This record gives sequence, structure tokens and C-alpha cells, in this order.
Amino acid sequence: MSEEIYDITVIGGGPGGYHAALRASQFGAKVALIERDKLGGTCLNRGCIPTKALYSSAKLAEEIHEKAADFGISVGEVKLDFAKAVERKNKVVKELVEGIEALEKKAKVAIFKGHGKIVGGSIDSYEVEISGGDNAKIKTKRIIIATGSKPALIPAFNIDHDRILTSDDILSPDFKTVPNTLLIIGAGVIGCEFANIFRTFGAKVIMLEYLPTPIATEERLVINELKKKLVGMGIEIYVSQNVLKVENTGSGVRATCCSADVPRDQVDSAEKTTYDADICLVSIGRARVSDNLGLESVGIESDRGQIKCDPKTLETAAKGIYAIGDVTGGIMLAHVASYEGDVAVENALSSIGGFDTHPRETDYSIVPATIFTSPEIGSVGLREKVAKERGKVFVGRFAYASLGKAKCMGEEKGFLMVIGDVETDKILGASCIGHEAPELIAEIAAAMAAGMTCTQLGHVIHSHPTISEMVLEAVEDVHGMAIHKAGRKRR
Ligand code: NAI
Repeated sequence: MSEEIYDITVIGGGPGGYHAALRASQFGAKVALIERDKLGGTCLNRGCIPTKALYSSAKLAEEIHEKAADFGISVGEVKLDFAKAVERKNKVVKELVEGIEALEKKAKVAIFKGHGKIVGGSIDSYEVEISGGDNAKIKTKRIIIATGSKPALIPAFNIDHDRILTSDDILSPDFKTVPNTLLIIGAGVIGCEFANIFRTFGAKVIMLEYLPTPIATEERLVINELKKKLVGMGIEIYVSQNVLKVENTGSGVRATCCSADVPRDQVDSAEKTTYDADICLVSIGRARVSDNLGLESVGIESDRGQIKCDPKTLETAAKGIYAIGDVTGGIMLAHVASYEGDVAVENALSSIGGFDTHPRETDYSIVPATIFTSPEIGSVGLREKVAKERGKVFVGRFAYASLGKAKCMGEEKGFLMVIGDVETDKILGASCIGHEAPELIAEIAAAMAAGMTCTQLGHVIHSHPTISEMVLEAVEDVHGMAIHKAGRKRR
């Protein structure tokens, strides 16, 4: 074992871990980062980034198809080449992974390739063993566990990675053929994003969802708008479906369902429906990855893979060991993992002392979320129903169709809605479906974090003509004062 002692060792190099390693090194800490696969984790290799690269191809195709002729551009016959789009996606991923590697190197983070396992120690010094790559044992004062999640596997769904796939399989660099028919189980974030991509590339898409609606956690009006679009594209969405089994029939896949309303003990005798397709994507959520980390050697508790930690400081039951990102069972978003990385690093380095850091506590009151369907979706804070249950609110709403810049761009679908507290005028939440919705929500999240009122945000000069004027109009509409909206009264 090397006698060198690291200040922080990060296990897992996804958006939580690689970010934490870079942040710790910015504070002058001596950092080790252990990753058994590629830096960037799920987000960069099998999640956000590859999906968004494919989404961008699909979006461009849609724009050419829907807009070009009207915009005075003749492009001839438009042919979609999925294999080419996948090659571009692979290149984007490769370059970004190399970028992260270069950043870590420049920051003098020691990168170990292999599986990291805590083998003992205490807050004075922990030992971590690396195997299956750079076989080594290192000493470290603090540890941050950022081992993430993987697609949830349900035995009845017989995921064989051949015809019955997870998002990992469908985003693999070699998955280059569009199936004739794609069956998607789970109409959540992943399901809807892939439905949009594959339908645009010409597949027939069938979605099966257990709940009465897709993307159930979003605002009702946003869900309706998305459903309208997906159904308009020809996607078949079947809700309230309890998928009992999925089988690879040799030449395709077959899912057997009954109504989700049937009580569990009556499922056997319930009426069944079957759905056939060429391949099936199972996107029903994710499972935490924390196996063989040596948690028990230092007294860290986990429950079905979920590592328990203090939700404020992110420290586990083992002093000086922190957990961040998907593995904690919190909000499963890349940007939340990175944020938690910052909090854990500052807490870890503050507990060592001698760094210019201060202990921090997490605050999840303002977490923007995005869904890259076309149109895109963004949301932050409370939904209208929840806000109304908590107190009196005004809701401002503005449609893209009424905005000059959106009209110029041919992006007239969708709306932005903002929820304001009647008493304090504070912004409680916002939801948007339409062009660059996630970017608009970013502005509102910043305003919320600064504690701004709807009136104050409405007083900020927004450049014209921009899509960001959607924010201005929607916050003004909270008080019935949007300029480009007819028939509203001041309130
Ligand atoms: P999800 O939780 O968003 O959706 C899963 C869906 O599957 C739910 O609607 C659920 O009701 C349904 N479901 C569960 N069991 C089912 C069954 N047996 N039969 C039919 N339907 C069933 O999970 P998803 O889409 O797998 O995404 C995983 C995570 O990744 C989420 O936390 C998501 O936020 C994150 N993610 C974020 C993205 C982004 O920020 N743009 C993109 C993709 C994923």
C-alpha cells in the first residue's frame, strides 16, 4: 500500500463523482477518483448526453419536415439515417468523456480504474481497495460514495438485452437499427424521450404505462399538451396497464397486461391484453448501485441498495464518509448529484480543516427538472394543485403563439405557467412546455433562489425579441398584467 494519504477519495466517476473530484481539487485537496468503467457515468455514457444527441437529430428532422417549406427552404427528399445519428452520438459522448479525463488530469486528480471497496479504517484514515483494473490499496482521510444507479430489472420482464432492452442497451454504441415496432414499458421521463426519438426515426411506437397518465409528476396541463403531441405523431399510449410479463418470442416480443385497477389477488383470472412488437424497451425506473462497496466494514447502512446518509450533510453513519447522487435514493437527476458533490466536498474538507471551505447543508426546495421530448418540458417548484392545497395562489400563463420571437421561429406550440403566492407574491413554481422550456425554467429557478417576487421579476428588462420574454409575460400575467394577452384584468 502506498504511504500517500489522499484528502478525499471519490468512488464513482459520474456527474456526482467526477464533479466532486474536480471541486475538491479546486479547493487544493489531494484527490483520488475511482471508476470501473468510463468517466461521466450514466449521464454521459448511457443517459442524458447520448439521448440528447439523438434527440437533436430527431428534432432537426422534425424541423426540416415541419418548417422548411414554409420558411422558403427546399431540401428535396429528407432521408433519416439512424446509424449515422448514432455515430454522431457516439462521437459526442467520446469527446465529452475525453474532456472530463483531461479536466481531471489537469486538476491533478489521481484516477484509478477498477472497482473501489472500503476495507476498513476510521475518520483518521480509511483504506480503499481497487480491483479489476489498477489493483491497489490507498489511504484516505475522507470518502465520497457516488456509485449511482442502473436500470431496474423486474424478473417477469425477462430483460435479455437481445429483444427486451434497457436504456443502457438502446444507447449502446452498436445499437444502430430502428425497429419496425418498439414497445416501451413505462411512460416516464426515459420512456417519453425514447418514444419521441424512435417515432421520428420511423418506428411504430406503443407505450404501456401503469399509472393513468404518462409523466405523472408533471403539471396536468403540460401532460395534456405532451399527450396531444405524442398521439398526434402516431404514438399509441395505453395507460392504467399492469404489465404482467414480457416474452421474447424469437421473432419479436409480446407483453401481456391486465388493467391496473384489477386487485393483485384477481390478476390471474382478469381479462388480458397482449401487445406485440419487434423489440421492447423497459423504462420503469432505476435501482441503486452499492454492492460490494464494503459498507459493512465501516458500519454504513443501506436499504435495497440505497445508502443511508444525513439528508442535510450527506454524511453516512461512518464519520467522514459521504454519499451523493442516485445511490442515496434522493432526486435522481445528474444536476442534483453534482450539487450534492459540492456540499459533500465542502463538508468533508471543512471537517479536515485548513481549506477555505465552510460546512454546508443541502436545500432541495428549488430543483429544476427537464424532459427532452419535442416540445421540451421544464419545471421547478410546486405544481398548481399542490400549491393550491397549501394556500391562495395566482397562476400566470403565457402561450408561445403570442410571442413575437416564437412566431418568427415557427415555435408556436406550448406555454409557460408561473404560480405566485397571493400574500407574498413569491414565485412558488413554474412549468413550461415548448421551445427551450428548460432554459426558461433556469431563469425562474434563479429568480426563486434569489427570493424574487413575480413583480420584481416582471421589472427585470428582458431583451427583445427573445424567447425569454415568455418569462416576463407569464410573471406579469400572475397579476393579470401581461401586455400581449387580451381580456385579462389586474388582480
Ligand atoms: P420514471 O420514474 O420517470 O418513469 C417510470 C414510469 O414507469 C412511471 O411512469 C411508472 O408509473 C411506470 N411504471 C413502473 N412500473 C411499471 C410497470 N410494471 N408497467 C408499466 N409502467 C410502469 O423512470 P425512468 O423514465 O426510468 O427514468 C429514471 C430516472 O432517470 C428518473 O429519475 C428520471 O428523472 C431520470 N431521467 C432524467 C432525464 C432528464 O433529466 N431529462 C432523462 C431520463 C431520465
